[in-house]
Amino acid sequence: MMYTMNWNSPLCRKLYQKTKNKCAFLYKEIGKADTPGGYIDDKFIVMDPSNPQDIETWREIVNSAYSDASYTLDEAYALLTNHPAVYPSETAFYLLDGKKAATISYGPIRSAGDTGGFFRIAVLPEHQKKGIGTELLRYAEAQLLSKDISRVEETIKLKRIGSLIMHFKAGYQPETSYAVRANKPKSFGKKAAAMVGYELLIKPITMSIYREFYLNKRT
Ligand SMILES: CC(C)(COP(=O)(O)OP(=O)(O)OC[C@H]1O[C@@H](n2cnc3c(N)ncnc32)[C@H](O)[C@@H]1OP(=O)(O)O)[C@@H](O)C(=O)NCCC(=O)NCCS
Repeated sequence: MMYTMNWNSPLCRKLYQKTKNKCAFLYKEIGKADTPGGYIDDKFIVMDPSNPQDIETWREIVNSAYSDASYTLDEAYALLTNHPAVYPSETAFYLLDGKKAATISYGPIRSAGDTGGFFRIAVLPEHQKKGIGTELLRYAEAQLLSKDISRVEETIKLKRIGSLIMHFKAGYQPETSYAVRANKPKSFGKKAAAMVGYELLIKPITMSIYREFYLNKRT
């Protein structure tokens, strides 16, 4: 099915405003040979969640990258050790000039262990748009692949436009349908309503952003 929604149209902008807390579903078959790029292993260090200094550093990076995050130490620890959707997770820091400047968490998702997921991908604001986020994705994909996980599903708020663009450029695509989705967040409420909402509203907007910021730029 083709979507012809114009991202700049008043209708699309209105829909986007109304759905800014809703999430796009993306996926990538990371086992495929055309997965682009690599990463520099030396730049990554795995977090020790039992080390309070690591949790504090994670909090500083995530709270400053996300305009809507303000984790306490306890909340950060709970999320990092017992994430509701991704289990068992591991978290890595990205080192820039020896300092921790970015982070990503990854692991098999609870509802389908052969599918992977990420959470709290964050780059310190002063270091964004330099390719670090993309390198985080490549690193985390490689960790999942090493655990025989060849598909990743991402749930991204539509309002996080920078993250959507980064994912599209890294080879992620809008999910083909809600039904094939392994990871259906509980917060989406009743299944039928979530499916209709996704197919009628969220997916067309996601496709519109995909076309605007990714497909059109390739031709
Ligand atoms: C989203 C985030 C992780 C991206 O990290 P980053 O290091 O800036 O990403 P990259 O530099 O690898 O960007 C990859 C591509 O996306 C583009 N991009 C990234 N953010 C963008 C934005 N806000 N607007 C437009 N394009 C953007 C980059 O220009 C780059 O494109 P290019 O290769 O053509 O130059 C970072 O902006 C961030 O921490 N944001 C706040 C937290 C967040 O939203 N996390 C993700 C939640 S799912």
